[in-house]
Amino acid sequence: MKAIVITQPGSPEVLQLQEVEDPQIKDDEVLIKVEATALNRADTLQRKGSYPPPKGASPHLGLECSGTILSVGKNVSRWKVGDQVCALLGGGGYAEKVAVPAGQVLPVPSGVSLKDAAAFPEVACTVWSTVFMTSHLSPGESFLVHGGSSGIGTFAIQMGKCQGVRVFVTAGSEEKLAFCKDLGADVCINYKTEDFVARVKEETGGKGVDVILDCIGASYFQRNLDSLNIDGRLFIIGTQGGAKTELNITSLFAKRLTVQAAGLRSRSTENKALIVSEVEKNVWPAIAVGKVKPVIYKYLPLCEAAEAHQLMESSQHNGKIMLVP
Ligand SMILES: NC(=O)c1ccc[n+]([C@@H]2O[C@H](COP(=O)([O-])OP(=O)(O)OC[C@H]3O[C@@H](n4cnc5c(N)ncnc54)[C@H](OP(=O)(O)O)[C@@H]3O)[C@@H](O)[C@H]2O)c1
Repeated sequence: MKAIVITQPGSPEVLQLQEVEDPQIKDDEVLIKVEATALNRADTLQRKGSYPPPKGASPHLGLECSGTILSVGKNVSRWKVGDQVCALLGGGGYAEKVAVPAGQVLPVPSGVSLKDAAAFPEVACTVWSTVFMTSHLSPGESFLVHGGSSGIGTFAIQMGKCQGVRVFVTAGSEEKLAFCKDLGADVCINYKTEDFVARVKEETGGKGVDVILDCIGASYFQRNLDSLNIDGRLFIIGTQGGAKTELNITSLFAKRLTVQAAGLRSRSTENKALIVSEVEKNVWPAIAVGKVKPVIYKYLPLCEAAEAHQLMESSQHNGKIMLVP
């Protein structure tokens, strides 16, 4: 089959479409003929050599896909050849075919095309497992999402609104903030021209928000703590602003704050299957009724993976950048 290969760690040009071995499925896996895959920020780190695939995962890029099942392992009962699905992958989505544990496969959500379905697995599993399953964001609470126009952010805004939450976002331009507003964001903060802590305090009568989903890390750490309400929860999923910082532990005491962090890709197969089943139960119905929609910036052919990475690193996009074999 053809797949995008990282010929050496480096800039987007190192990504090349090459002939590679077909993946072999294990007894509890299915083989999917890929209809579409989507970029995630982590792919750019893997390309540069700073985010190696976990043990046993495909060496190729691609954390999600949609497609048609070509074969099933002998222990798989839920899926059959010909089923149209999407899946959360440990890697290997930038290819014509991919093998995936059956527990990480989802039906195509009702009302969504097979191609567009590839925009959902990574964002839905990340946001649902962090903000909802762990931080227990609840109706009536307030929620700040950094990078509101990102793949993750555009999904988190919609899911937050669907759950009856007041959604705050940060983004780096007025165009991006307008995009977030159209998706339902209530308070839109330009992090380049405004102090987000002051704005959050102003909008919440001095209290702060209940939950923050943060992809910036060190450079926002103290400001995130300062922006939280009593019993507030900070969930960190990225370190675009660095990974090392100092913490004055007493700043957690008065407001009884919780700080958590997690990566999706390194979780066990069992843990991913649990998250996927919770996503199917809780997120898929919201998509089926049109409350959560795929937010797709652009489709590019798989052979233009390098251009797609350039686009992501330029940060011009809103939502997901897709690749089609
Ligand atoms: N831990 C996990 O399991 C997991 C899973 C998926 C994603 N993630 C992380 O989640 C983040 C989003 O991923 P993605 O794939 O959706 O990437 P993406 O679409 O490329 O989004 C990156 C976003 O970061 C924003 N950003 C950069 N600097 C910022 C700052 N100082 N303040 C606020 N926003 C800032 C950018 O917005 P502007 O252009 O407006 O600056 C952009 O929207 C990435 O950091 C990724 O690594 C983590």
